Amino acid sequence: MPKTVAVMGLGYVGLPVACLVAKKGFKTHGLELNPRVVDQVNQGKSHIRDPALIKAVKAVKGKLLATGDAGLALSGADIVLVCVPTPVTQDKHPDLGFVESACRTLARHLRKGMLVVIESTVYPGVTDEIVKPLLEQSGLRAGKDFGLVHCPERIDPGNQEFALENIPRVVGGVDEHSTTEAVKFYRKILAASVTPLNSIKAAEAVKIMENTFRDVNIAFINEIAMSFDKLGIDVLEVIKGCSTKPFGFMPFYPGPGVGGTCIPKDPYYLIERAREKGFEHRFVSLARSLNNAMPVYAVSLVEQLLASLGKPVETAHLALLGLSYKADVDDVRESPALEILRLLSAKNKSLKAFDPFVPGKSNVRSLEEAVQGADCVLLATNHRSFVKSLSPRQLKAWNVKAVFDARNALDKEGILAAGIRYKGIGR
Ligand SMILES: NC(=O)c1ccc[n+]([C@@H]2O[C@H](COP(=O)([O-])OP(=O)(O)OC[C@H]3O[C@@H](n4cnc5c(N)ncnc54)[C@H](O)[C@@H]3O)[C@@H](O)[C@H]2O)c1
Repeated sequence: MPKTVAVMGLGYVGLPVACLVAKKGFKTHGLELNPRVVDQVNQGKSHIRDPALIKAVKAVKGKLLATGDAGLALSGADIVLVCVPTPVTQDKHPDLGFVESACRTLARHLRKGMLVVIESTVYPGVTDEIVKPLLEQSGLRAGKDFGLVHCPERIDPGNQEFALENIPRVVGGVDEHSTTEAVKFYRKILAASVTPLNSIKAAEAVKIMENTFRDVNIAFINEIAMSFDKLGIDVLEVIKGCSTKPFGFMPFYPGPGVGGTCIPKDPYYLIERAREKGFEHRFVSLARSLNNAMPVYAVSLVEQLLASLGKPVETAHLALLGLSYKADVDDVRESPALEILRLLSAKNKSLKAFDPFVPGKSNVRSLEEAVQGADCVLLATNHRSFVKSLSPRQLKAWNVKAVFDARNALDKEGILAAGIRYKGIGR
């Protein structure tokens, strides 16, 4: 059994993986560029505000050694998991700079017998065409001297039901031996299935396809919701009805847009790769633009709601609740709530924004301070604590005039019965 594992990048993906590997008894090194993260992890502290991760990092204090020293982290490693970012540029092109730089570093420390696993999300072809040649600059050959596989990470931060350990994985390798070794490794650390695929490209495409699947389905339900707003139909009631069909329907829910580092970004990896090869993804591109336009739509609904109260958006008391991209996480990357904040702040200088997970971007310190006396409360992120606290009775006690529920998470009937105006997306 290989004894030493190195994880490159201790972010939302790498840190949980490193903790799990250390917990399973492997000697574990985490190579991280950010010295603040290195210090925190070595003190048993998580730089990510996720209760499960905070616990996991504490539990492996002294077992997971974080460092910025590539030689220390990599030279003794039997398995290296690459978990560095794969963002898009401002104009939405894949930015593989972190992967390339990590591979150059790794090439300097590559040894015979090592197994390299790319966990970062990449478009089909990156591992074969970019990662492999960079690693082979070491003089060693993939599939002969070292193993190389792609095993896409599917972690869903904040998910209470599925954590890293019980999410099934797929693996595709440069050769059968690499795939078999990687499957063995993941079967040791996971309590979920690990499925070998017959190519690296297939494994790379799995991740891109499943996130594109979500993006187009969310775009579809967002479009339906906008249509139902005109037709006067409650989209949640319709989803409830459709969900009674035991086959051929899967519920997706409308919202103020799509955020995080995966779903709004991964389809662009597919679009660009296919375009290079001569295929234009019209449907996937349309889904992207529909979802990107949702914050503008959300703001237009807020303005309509305020108009019904006779309040101009410029002078209304507004409370924006939630800044992270989804419930119960502190991640604001690509968050539609931030786009809503930007759009509304341009019109309203006294807007109060609050997110208990994102104190650095909040301009008030409590829910009460944000909501008390608001003409319109805008729920952009359905943190459980918000949904629990924003009962019709509490909203009434805080003298709220209107609620825009961009997550369709609050008690619409109760709020209306309390004499407060309510608008959701598609209801
Ligand atoms: N965040 C998610 O929920 C999620 C889920 C599944 C897959 N992914 C994918 O996983 C990958 C990582 O995403 P993330 O959210 O963990 O990113 P992140 O930004 O949270 O973390 C990446 C970390 O890597 C570090 N880093 C960058 N280059 C490095 C290098 N050369 N050596 C060592 N450390 C380096 C950065 O400092 C950062 O701390 C991306 O490809 C992403 O698309 C993310």
